[in-house]
Order: sequence, then C-alpha cells, then structure tokens
Amino acid sequence: MPDHSPLVQSLRTAVAGAPDDVPLRLHLAELLIAGGHHDEAVAEAAVALQHAPGDPQARELMARAMGVPPQAPEMSAQAPEVPPQAPEVPPQAPEGPPSPAGFNWKAAEDQVGDVVPPRFVETPKAAEAPQTADGADVPGDASAWEVEAPHGVRLADVGGMQDVKDRLEAAFLAPLRNPELRKLYGKSLRGGLLLYGPPGCGKTLIARAVAGELGANFLSISINDVLDMWMGNSERNMHEVFETARRQAPCVLFLDELDALGAKRSRTAHSGMRNTVNQLLTELDGIDAGANEGVFVLAATNVPWDVDNALRRPGRLDRTILVLPPDAPAREAILRYHLRDRPVANIDLRKLTKATDGLSGADLAHLCEAAAERALLDSARTGTVRMIGMQDLTEAAATISPSSDPWFASARNVAMFANEGGMYDDLVTYLKKKRKL
Ligand SMILES: Nc1ncnc2c1ncn2[C@@H]1O[C@H](COP(=O)(O)OP(=O)(O)O)[C@@H](O)[C@H]1O
Ligand SMILES: [Mg+2]
Repeated sequence: MPDHSPLVQSLRTAVAGAPDDVPLRLHLAELLIAGGHHDEAVAEAAVALQHAPGDPQARELMARAMGVPPQAPEMSAQAPEVPPQAPEVPPQAPEGPPSPAGFNWKAAEDQVGDVVPPRFVETPKAAEAPQTADGADVPGDASAWEVEAPHGVRLADVGGMQDVKDRLEAAFLAPLRNPELRKLYGKSLRGGLLLYGPPGCGKTLIARAVAGELGANFLSISINDVLDMWMGNSERNMHEVFETARRQAPCVLFLDELDALGAKRSRTAHSGMRNTVNQLLTELDGIDAGANEGVFVLAATNVPWDVDNALRRPGRLDRTILVLPPDAPAREAILRYHLRDRPVANIDLRKLTKATDGLSGADLAHLCEAAAERALLDSARTGTVRMIGMQDLTEAAATISPSSDPWFASARNVAMFANEGGMYDDLVTYLKKKRKL
C-alpha cells in the first residue's frame, strides 16, 4: 500500500464508514489526485459517479484523474489543470473493497503486472520543465526578466538524441567545463550556439539542460513576445536583457524564436527592427571585451533560413545544431512521462514507440491526452470504468499526423536550393536518410 498521508488514511476510514457520502468520497479523490495516486482517484470517482451519475464535481474529478485536460468535451470548463508533480509511485493495487463500479481492480492489476512489470519506475525530470520555463512567459515589464536559479535538468534527462548530446558536448560543453581547455581555446569560445529544427522537438528542453550541465542560471527570452512588448524601446531593452544575464553570470541566455528578431536584414523594412538586430550584434560582440564572461548564449529557431546571416558569423551564434523529431529512445521517454500519472494498463511502450515515428514531443503529449479522453468517454458511455489501454493509444496515434511535416516541406527546399556553404549539411543527410530528398 502506498504511503498515504494521515489525512488520506482517515478519510478512507470515514468513507468506508459512510460509503454513500458522495462529497466525502470526492474529497478523498481530490486528495488522491493531489498526491499523484491517479489510479486510486479513478476508483473513488467511479464509486461516486455510481451514487450520483450526473454530479458535475464527480465527473470533473474523474476527468482529472484520467488526465484529460479541462477543455475536453462534456467536462466542466473550470476544472483546474492537474499540475505536473509527484514523483512516480511504484505499482500498487488500490486497496479496500472491490470497486462496485464493476471493474475488477485486482484482476486488472495482476494483468498489468504481467505485461508491463515496471510501470514507469523513473520519470524524466526534465520533461516537465520547459512548460514552466518557456520564454513565452516573460512578464510584460522589461526590468523584470526572470532568471531561473540553477536547476536539476541535465542532458541525461533528455531522452535519446545521442547525436545532439555528443555534438553539444564537443562543440560547447567540454571546453567550457574544463578551465585549461578554456584558456587554450581562448577566443574561439566566445560564440554561442543556434539550435534549429521543427517545432516541439526539444530545443527549449535542450537549452535548459545545457544550463543544468553548466550549473548556470537560465534566462529565457522569447523574441516574439519581447518585440511586442518593446515597441520603440527594443534596443535599450535588448541591452537590459544582456545586462541581466551578465549580473547573473554564470548564466545561459536563451533567445527563443530568434528569427523574429534576426529576420534577414535585407527583408526587414521596419527600421526599428534593424536597430534591434544591430543592438543584438553589439551585445554578442561584447563577449570580445570580456563583458560576457560567464554568459552563454543559446538561441533557437524553427526557421534558420530567416535568421540574419550577420548573427551567425564567427564569435556570434557560430555553431549550429539540428534538433530533429525525437528518435525512439526519446519518444519512449516522452511517452513514459506523459503517461506517468494516468491510469494505464497493458501499455507496450516499445510497440507504441515504433508506431509513433515522426511525431514531435508536442504531438506525443497530444496523443496521450487524446487516448485518455477516449478511455474516459468510453467509460462514461458504458458505465464501466476502464483504464487507458494500448488500443486507445494506437488508435489515437493513427489520427495524429506529424506536426513537423510542413516544416520538412520547407526544409527540403532549403536543403536543395539554399545550402550555402554547407550550412544545412546535417539536414541534407537526414532528409536523404529518410528518403525525403
Ligand atoms: N528528447 C526528449 N526527451 C524528453 N522530452 C522531450 C524530448 N524532446 C522533446 N521533449 C518534450 O517535448 C515537448 C516539446 O519540446 P520543446 O523543448 O518545447 O520543443 P521546441 O523548443 O523545439 O519547440 C516538451 O514538453 C519537451 O519536454
Ligand atoms: Mg521551444
């Protein structure tokens, strides 16, 4: 039996003594969800629904226990999102009397135990981080750039993607980690790194992991937001961003959606924008004067071909890493993460991983939500609660097409016609391997 809080234990006793008390049971279910015991919460919500089939709170709790987001059809619109939380709990049988909802928990548990013995023993800590750390959340006050203290997200938390990790290590981390190498490399260490690739494939996560590896603070700025906010003031504020990073050194400064700012100067009619680009160049070059000691600049874009070439010159964002859709180990890590708090049974992760080739991290999150919703609606329809099964996932997978397809369509043109100086050789290699070129 899991280590429940004393409150949960007393509530259990109370519920056992008053099995018809719906509010009491819902209270218990609420606490179980908060404690990450989603399977048990499903059982309690199911009993509550038996007693009060139309009860909106019971339905809402059931949805949350199943991990269906609040905007799902038929669900109460105000249902708060379940926060990502709670370390994984080892597999356990929900205790207490057999569920009157007609679902044999013991049998299900035994069955699950055989097929997927370790029901997710470890959770990639990292996977939850980007949601909270995306530069998109920068507040609307230029003086309030939020710098995150060093955190625990490491490259090991990024599933799969060994190529990317090796390149990061060689091109960026190894020389920085080692003070001797640092001296030896001297000037050549000045520049930053540009991550590019289709959306939702881990660029932000990797930037955070780099900060974790360096034990550095992390300042994430989404250029798109920032441009809106900066109207007319962008140069001074661009300077402020760098100053903030310098004060917080060692600090990884992550410039997301770089293309928004660096849009090729030739194409930028808006002269205000051009000044901002120039300011960024000045700030990057500040590294020369030692001003940027301890400031590591990482940038990301989905459209590197729109990034001003001046930004990619030596000493600036002179190293480039292509971040592709998650490979099999990465997909497995992502799926594991998104299923961690959901009531699942008989999930063959390897098979699922195979069936989801080409899907991005974001697509995989969506897939897990869609599967949970299917199981939930099915449970509501039949009146019998069931876990999220393999079929829910494979059928949901069949309906989701890779969101990076359109990206590859543009990338293909660039690889064919605009691979100046071999800038996109990695992309060419990948497209050829995937027979897309
Ligand atoms: N290799 C990976 N391992 C674990 N999670 C990943 C991986 N790649 C992507 N993700 C997850 O997928 C989602 C989208 O990734 P994100 O870094 O935001 O993509 P991008 O910045 O490229 O648009 C995030 O929740 C992220 O944690
Ligand atoms: Mg991102």
